[in-house]
Amino acid sequence: MTSVQPADDSLSIEHSTSGKKWELHVEDGCLRATQLRQIPLGQTDLGLLSYDPAFLNTASCRSAITFIDGEAGILDYRGYSIEDLAETATYPEVCFLLLNGELPNESELASFEAELAEEAVLPADMIELFAAFPDNMHPMTMLASGLASLGAKYPEADQVLDEANRKRQIIRLLAKTPALAALVWRRTQNDSPVGASPDKGFIASFLRMLLANPGEDFEVEDSFARAMDALLTLHADHEQNCSTNAVRAVASSHVNPYSAVAAGCFALHGPLHGGANQAVLEMLEEIGTIEAIPDFLEACKCGDRRLMGFGHRVYKNYDPRAKVISGLVESVLDAGQPDPRLEIARALEAIAREDDYFVSRKLFPNVDFYSGILYSSMGFPPSMFTVFFAVGRMVGWLAHWDEMLRDPEQKIARPRQIYTGHSRREVPKMANR
Ligand code: SDX
Repeated sequence: MTSVQPADDSLSIEHSTSGKKWELHVEDGCLRATQLRQIPLGQTDLGLLSYDPAFLNTASCRSAITFIDGEAGILDYRGYSIEDLAETATYPEVCFLLLNGELPNESELASFEAELAEEAVLPADMIELFAAFPDNMHPMTMLASGLASLGAKYPEADQVLDEANRKRQIIRLLAKTPALAALVWRRTQNDSPVGASPDKGFIASFLRMLLANPGEDFEVEDSFARAMDALLTLHADHEQNCSTNAVRAVASSHVNPYSAVAAGCFALHGPLHGGANQAVLEMLEEIGTIEAIPDFLEACKCGDRRLMGFGHRVYKNYDPRAKVISGLVESVLDAGQPDPRLEIARALEAIAREDDYFVSRKLFPNVDFYSGILYSSMGFPPSMFTVFFAVGRMVGWLAHWDEMLRDPEQKIARPRQIYTGHSRREVPKMANR
């Protein structure tokens, strides 16, 4: 049951030594932190500050896009459950939903897909740009560089307060990111790129750009198309995760959206965030056999290793996305060729979920635990997995970008700090240092 925000309330705070009291207003289950300034106990003339490293208990915005109940393992996009959407809606439908708040009807979907198709092709000089990248550049660095460079093609994107302009840039970014991701893949393989074929549909065109041989006909495997569509939906948004927070913070300076989503890519690349799907596959390959699992888990329990793909800041239950992906894996794997890494992953999950270290810390599989096996079964190496995560998450970043710029309460993101350095001192002469 989705929790309902508590009604407005008030709190009174009494200072234990002076006995002075203050009334604080509670709205939507939150305390507006600037109310604390009236309490003159802080380090500066700004009064009392709230202190919350890594924002463990701080709401940075109001958002209507995604709802997560971490205890119950609930994830809803605009009120629809992720399980239902992954099962019944296509990724373009989910993009329309996240951006507009409602699922499209037939004609709305047709015109949305037509707008995406019109913008599906990359500017030709992107290919020269990618050719100049160093061979060992990580695919996520290539993707972020490509997104930032794409912004140079559309200087009007700097007009971030113009709603029609925002819509145009959102369509461009949604349509061109799959082509950029495919160009990243081709660059890593030193293959010549295969252009977009939007007439075949969003997912089919994406898979064709990734997997077809230049100049040859290409039949998209249905199971691949269904899996990729569901994976992009499952990764589309996740409220104020690290990379969405980065996009909102960078975009709060009113920089263009191409730069903001490039920043999102760099945040997503981190192994504690979207980079975990790459780390999971590398971990499964390092463990190698089911017999080696107990020793590896011991190393996690004493803090020497992390069980990648497990645990979550918000979910203290099974990540509903992991459940859907786990169910998808068999549909893509070639029945004739079981994947040993899947057997290790399944055994790892079964053993960890019986182990008190993980149970007591409410550590369950998250979205990254099985996704890599799916991407790997489509023929991609771990270094590409977070690129696919970014393709899916692009719509979430853009929906939050648009929502932030419409929010009258939002300003440039600029937190305060607790100063722990030197008090004012004189600059000594060099001879005296
Ligand atoms: C994503 O935020 C989002 O929504 C992210 C995401 C999205 O869609 O955007 O869902 C995508 O990033 C999923 C998470 C992918 N990352 C990983 O799988 C990396 C492994 N997981 C962890 O590093 C960790 O669980 C985090 C980073 C995901 C969450 O870390 P927190 O909330 O800061 O928790 P913590 O590090 O404070 O851990 C609490 C305890 C600690 O033990 P104690 O100090 O209490 O003894 O749990 C332990 C941690 O050591 N712990 C783990 C663990 N995760 C937490 N121990 C072993 N293995 C792990 N994976």
